Amino acid sequence: MISLRICALTGFALLLLACATTPKEGLYQALGEGPGIASLVNEAVHRSHADPRFGELFSEADLDNLRSQLNSQICELADGPCVYEGLSMAEAHSGMQISRAEFNWFVEHTRDAMTALGYSVGTQNRLLARLAPMRAEILSDTDMPAQMPEEPVDPLGMGD
Ligand code: HEM
Repeated sequence: MISLRICALTGFALLLLACATTPKEGLYQALGEGPGIASLVNEAVHRSHADPRFGELFSEADLDNLRSQLNSQICELADGPCVYEGLSMAEAHSGMQISRAEFNWFVEHTRDAMTALGYSVGTQNRLLARLAPMRAEILSDTDMPAQMPEEPVDPLGMGD
């Protein structure tokens, strides 16, 4: 009887160990690899193009180039087998005067596209977390938050 219990406990422990050591699925795989990323890019670009809040920005853009560059950029960001060879984010968006609101709308369209395509919230957040650091390069200089002063001025409000 005791040996049966030991056997069951050992089996359970081994099962837990196997679960704990199974590697998390890579983001590239979670996005459905090349075809999944292509659907996501098509859907996000389609939604942005159809959004009148962007004015002429997307209707005057080269959407084939945008889709193709976004495909390789997201593939690379997701650790897929691609190398993004397009413009830097600062170069690509210079002169567009992109505001914080516009950046947020673009991110919302990307998130809504992922929801529509059935990606889990976890996968959505993993991709959005990798896109977020590009914000500073994409935003127009005039819509960046004020720079921090070089020397903090009484940051804790305690006086001298
Ligand atoms: C994380 C957010 C974003 C990413 C990753 C991204 C990525 C890109 C890439 C890869 C390109 C093409 C670069 C090249 O031609 O080599 C591009 C171009 C462009 N992006 Fe973005 N972008 C982002 C945000 C935005 C936002 C917020 C807007 C507008 C509000 C925008 C509008 C455009 C437009 C209009 C083009 C030019 C397409 C063309 O005519 O070739 N992007 N972006």
